[in-house]
Amino acid sequence: MSELAQAIAATHGRPLERDRARRIARAFAPRHPLGNRHDYFYTLIKLRSDPLYPGVLAALRGTRAPLLDLGCGLGLLAHALRQDGQALAYRGVDIDADKIARGRRVAAGAGLDGVTFDVVDLARETPDHRGSVAILDVLQYLPHEAQQALLSTVAAMLDGDARLVIRTGLGDDSGRGRTTRVTDRLANLIGWMQERARCYPTRDGLQAMLEAAGLRATFAPLYGSTPFNNWLVVAEPV
Ligand SMILES: C[S@@+](CC[C@H](N)C(=O)[O-])C[C@H]1O[C@@H](n2cnc3c(N)ncnc32)[C@H](O)[C@@H]1O
Repeated sequence: MSELAQAIAATHGRPLERDRARRIARAFAPRHPLGNRHDYFYTLIKLRSDPLYPGVLAALRGTRAPLLDLGCGLGLLAHALRQDGQALAYRGVDIDADKIARGRRVAAGAGLDGVTFDVVDLARETPDHRGSVAILDVLQYLPHEAQQALLSTVAAMLDGDARLVIRTGLGDDSGRGRTTRVTDRLANLIGWMQERARCYPTRDGLQAMLEAAGLRATFAPLYGSTPFNNWLVVAEPV
């Protein structure tokens, strides 16, 4: 097993420690006692239950290239990186202007340096960038052709010690695969996710897309004790 795969495997199944999760989530609490606590509780539950961030932090640790976070949501990765002592420049983009506004405000309030956010629809454009790229729980919102085009475009961004870090639900007939699809649909129906999932890549399909883009990929399960079919994929130029 490669060093990178070992580092990822060592975190598998474990979300952030409870205290670290609480410190990040507190940045999302409202200033006023009667303010809306939705983002606070969402981030606290997400950080305490989902092994996503420890896996991604392990995949990026030791790299220095700037990071572009595609479909960044509230920008939780920026908080996790800084808490982990990773100082690489961070730019988060997302189609959801509300989330970007909240993510920008909270990052500024938390005093995160070198962190920027922009509204971008990845189905229409990809920002210019040189460095690492994160695509976390986003690929399934794009049609197959757009996924292929996006992966080819981001492959050309990787230089120096840069890595492409993807977390995605993989499309298959397992119980985990079904739970992932149903949960994404519910998130769309209740309005938490403005976009509707369109296409879950299969493992073979994603591997083929990455190879066609000139990348060598490591796949590792990253669902921990959640019921989803989430995998971490770390890719580097061949
Ligand atoms: C499940 S959330 C993941 C958020 C973040 N990456 C994380 O891991 O916490 C999926 C994100 O993808 C964004 N998204 C969906 N379709 C998009 C598109 N076409 N362009 C940019 N962002 C998109 C959604 O707005 C949402 O914030």
